[in-house]
Amino acid sequence: MSTATPTPPASARQAEHDILPLFINRWSPRAYTGEEIPDAVLFAAFEAARWAPSGSNAQPWRFVYAKRGVGNWPVFLDLLLPGNRAWAEKASALILIISKKTGIRQRDGLPGPLPSRSFDSGAAWQNFALQAFVSGWATRAIGGYDREKARPALRIPDEYDLENFVAIGKRAEKEVLPEELRAKEFQTPRLPLKEFLFEGGF
Ligand SMILES: Cc1cc2nc3c(=O)[nH]c(=O)nc-3n(C[C@H](O)[C@H](O)[C@H](O)COP(=O)(O)O)c2cc1C
Repeated sequence: MSTATPTPPASARQAEHDILPLFINRWSPRAYTGEEIPDAVLFAAFEAARWAPSGSNAQPWRFVYAKRGVGNWPVFLDLLLPGNRAWAEKASALILIISKKTGIRQRDGLPGPLPSRSFDSGAAWQNFALQAFVSGWATRAIGGYDREKARPALRIPDEYDLENFVAIGKRAEKEVLPEELRAKEFQTPRLPLKEFLFEGGF
């Protein structure tokens, strides 16, 4: 079983401009080995998330996590929708990212809503994912989970929004996946730049 960082097929992933290779080489597999993740790897990824930018530097993200087979792991896994649970049970850790709804506003020092909390948490997750990739590990975000059950199950207070789960693990070959997921295990393409750039107005 190879766990080497994959090289994307030229057809699926080609940059139109010169960028750091990690942006196109990072991808989100579903096939994982289930091996234990060293704290050095997991905490380096958390550390990278820590340095994400945020509105008013409020840092509204919180990462609630469980390592595979440890403590609350079965509760985390059970919150995923069955299609996600089928592959994520071989991840090495699951993380629920939540975001604080209110904080101290920079402009007046008063408490107020943090309207960019999801945007900021997205930046933190991307830092996490890129650091994990550089460490030789893979991640996949998971929006498909039971949001009603997640809050009480993980004791999330009302002053936090539920964002997304993230799985982190060591990539395995697609043969470890249930058959119906094997065909989906490929590196996705992207829209061309011209489809999302609008100079001067939409
Ligand atoms: C917010 C978010 C939610 C996602 N939810 C799921 C999910 O529930 N199940 C899943 O298998 N993949 C999920 N994904 C993975 C995306 O399908 C994947 O990131 C996308 O196809 C781009 O592929 P790449 O990450 O390999 O570049 C999610 C990704 C994001 C960012």
